[in-house]
Amino acid sequence: MRAACRAAAAVLADVAAEIRPGTKTRELDDYAAERIARHGGRSAFLGYRKYPRQTCISVNEEVVHGLAGDRRIQRGDIVSLDVGVTLDGYIGDNATTVIVNECDKKTKKLVEVTKQSLYAAISCAVAGNRVRDISKAIQDLAEGNGFSVVREFVGHGVGKTMHEPPQVPNYVEPRRRSPELLPGMTLAIEPMVNAGTAAVKVLKDGWTVVTRDGQPSAHFEHTVLITDDEPEVLTWPEGKKFG
Ligand code: MF3
Ligand code: CO
Repeated sequence: MRAACRAAAAVLADVAAEIRPGTKTRELDDYAAERIARHGGRSAFLGYRKYPRQTCISVNEEVVHGLAGDRRIQRGDIVSLDVGVTLDGYIGDNATTVIVNECDKKTKKLVEVTKQSLYAAISCAVAGNRVRDISKAIQDLAEGNGFSVVREFVGHGVGKTMHEPPQVPNYVEPRRRSPELLPGMTLAIEPMVNAGTAAVKVLKDGWTVVTRDGQPSAHFEHTVLITDDEPEVLTWPEGKKFG
């Protein structure tokens, strides 16, 4: 898991660095293919339930699972990039949202709050806590800042396959029992936060998830190992400080 996650993090950083005005999303996806191969891995997404791309690239009102194509990135866009790498039978899964040069104030806050909600969630990812503690950290921060949390898609256990139990929702269901976190679990924690309402729909391409109200959405994701001690963020990029 450490090796797969290290590769996934390196590819995410490399491809994110290429996001700039004028670039086609297809070019980013192609570049990801090259970087993943360079690490000796394969895309964990390509072919998963017939998913047709290497990565997910979701722009502005696109929430997740955006399909790369001829769209050109523009100044003022926010671009969510999701990269999953399979290496030696294990999967690393991570995502980030990049502001292209600049964006309006509310969208900037959305991106920052979503990132901070992931960090707050990670600090709750300790043995003895429950999945619900992770969910609550995300929901409280997102909704406390006037944003809303997507319900139809959730974080997940990840390992030899991409989606393993437990589900890791970004919201709390009050009367639902919630699994205890145990050392050795690896979880993909991935807040999806909308500037407007929580409602989403899937486009006719069968994949791209967009906000119903057309307002922007942000997405951050790390694969995290529960230990006897502090959480270990397996997809933390080399040389970058936490926070
Ligand atoms: N990170 C996403 C997830 O965990 C990406 C999956 S895209 C898919 O669900 F196409 F592979 F489904
Ligand atoms: Co995921």
